[in-house]
Amino acid sequence: MSDDLRDLYQEVILDHGRHPRNRRMIEDANHFAHGENPLCGDQLTVFLKVGPDGVIKDVSFEGRGCAISTASASLMTEVIVGKTEAEAQKLFEDFHAMATGGEAHSGDEFEDEIDRLTVLAGVRDYPVRVKCATLAWHTLAAAIKDEQKVTTE
Ligand code: FES
Repeated sequence: MSDDLRDLYQEVILDHGRHPRNRRMIEDANHFAHGENPLCGDQLTVFLKVGPDGVIKDVSFEGRGCAISTASASLMTEVIVGKTEAEAQKLFEDFHAMATGGEAHSGDEFEDEIDRLTVLAGVRDYPVRVKCATLAWHTLAAAIKDEQKVTTE
């Protein structure tokens, strides 16, 4: 990876970490879950408003963590709004594969979304940071399944 690209990725992470999108509560959420990274104790809550057609109409999070977990949660909300719950689950699996150095499961289906999330791919070299980057996603998957608590263990 070139230094310019690495700098750009850092900038995106810092921007989302400092100015997270969709960090708020959804009053009429119909799914939510609390997630915790037991390595550091950081916690967040993901809220979803899903329509009768299974499409995620709104998604948000609350809580505080490190810049990577906050940036990841912020980026996640941007890429999953408008997706069905099944699509969001597939994106979680693709993102998890990217963050752990594996292969995406859904091929090119979510190419644009995975491109946006690539800024976080560098965590794969730092196992502790994988937990930071995937905290919001594990919590999202739990919210979809109506499991109200999850940890990254
Ligand atoms: Fe706690 Fe990153 S250090 S989530």
